[in-house]
Amino acid sequence: MYPATVPTLVPPTQLTPVAAAAPHPLAVLGGDTRVRVADGRTLPYANLDVAATAPCAVAAADAVTRLLPTYASVHRGAGALSQQCTRAYEQARATVAGFVGCRPGDQVIFTRNSTDALNLMAHVVPAGTTVITFVGEHHANLLPWRRAVRLPLPRTPDEAVAAVERALRRPGPALVAVTATSNVTGEVWPVAEIARVAHQRGARVVVDAAQLAAHGPVDMAALGADYLVLSGHKLYAPFGAGVLAGRADWLDAAEPYLRGGGASRQVAADGAVRWADGPARHEAGTPNLVGVVALAAVCSAVTAGGWAHLARHERWLLERLDAGLSGIAGVHRLALFGPGHPRLGIAGFAVAGLDSAEVARRLADEHGIGVRDGLFCAHPLTRRLLADTPVTTATAVRASIGAGTTAEHVDRLVAGVADIAGRRRPASG
Ligand code: ALA
Repeated sequence: MYPATVPTLVPPTQLTPVAAAAPHPLAVLGGDTRVRVADGRTLPYANLDVAATAPCAVAAADAVTRLLPTYASVHRGAGALSQQCTRAYEQARATVAGFVGCRPGDQVIFTRNSTDALNLMAHVVPAGTTVITFVGEHHANLLPWRRAVRLPLPRTPDEAVAAVERALRRPGPALVAVTATSNVTGEVWPVAEIARVAHQRGARVVVDAAQLAAHGPVDMAALGADYLVLSGHKLYAPFGAGVLAGRADWLDAAEPYLRGGGASRQVAADGAVRWADGPARHEAGTPNLVGVVALAAVCSAVTAGGWAHLARHERWLLERLDAGLSGIAGVHRLALFGPGHPRLGIAGFAVAGLDSAEVARRLADEHGIGVRDGLFCAHPLTRRLLADTPVTTATAVRASIGAGTTAEHVDRLVAGVADIAGRRRPASG
């Protein structure tokens, strides 16, 4: 078992460990972290920025701790440890394939994160394929598509599906790139319905599951995903591994994403190269064994424990958060599809008359709370959602919850926001 009290990466002067996190199917480290706030008190750290980077699962830390003494090269050595590490790496691939519901013949390529996986996806899309996406996507699913059809933001899930259907009337092969869950609002997108219309017209779909994968089951068949990406660091598995999973044909036909050892079968003196097929084609260089073992450990832990406990916990906290924020004068929520639409553990909001950076700073300095502020790597979406509110601030605040979040964290955030909003100067708008 990984020790309950572990070294932290934040300056020790600001932190003091307290009690260990409660047992949970997805128990995480760091629940005992304390931070010093402006008036000199130390408070338990309330990490409400889980959507950016989730804390490390005990399962991931345990798996890495077990691996490290025998850590050796992967796919590159005859020694016993190399053989063992190669098996661990390929076992992790199989575990992740099961976790996302890969079909026979699908591939799992390990990347650095979802951004890297979507850049790989953009790299393998056959020439002549029209990429269709929405202007409100996270930049990771917006900027890699250099010549995409960028659909305007829909007002309802039905509008989203209809917009994709219309865009697909143009002839020729197409790929629809869509997020499963917004990182700004937590709203769930109608991915399965979009995939249904895409498939009716012979198009493929790549799903950005970076947020979804941390809150509920990801099943490529149920989502209708031909391809799916996720990030280890959002799934309680630090150490820098991400995933692109999906159909092998485009992956095998494309030039290698990275050129180098491991991706090449044979290299002649004149420079002619015979490239590998399969995942190795896009994974040149020594792979991130520690990262993928951590990711697979979380996938196994979630698969064994099921999502039900975590989903219930998050729903309960989200209702508490929503109720709390909705009672504060001057707090305006960001939402694309409206208040009743299904959401996962993310709440974007702005406080009238207050710069979001100041709100976030005061939450940290005065209340020991970590949130994110800004435009959340989704500038067009966040700007448009802010324009729908009466606030004039240019950016927003985001609170996000997950395993390790407690009711006390949520209550402290609500109290902190109420306190900060209540101290606005009357003249501010
Ligand atoms: N995509 C990450 C976020 O939403 C970084 O915060």
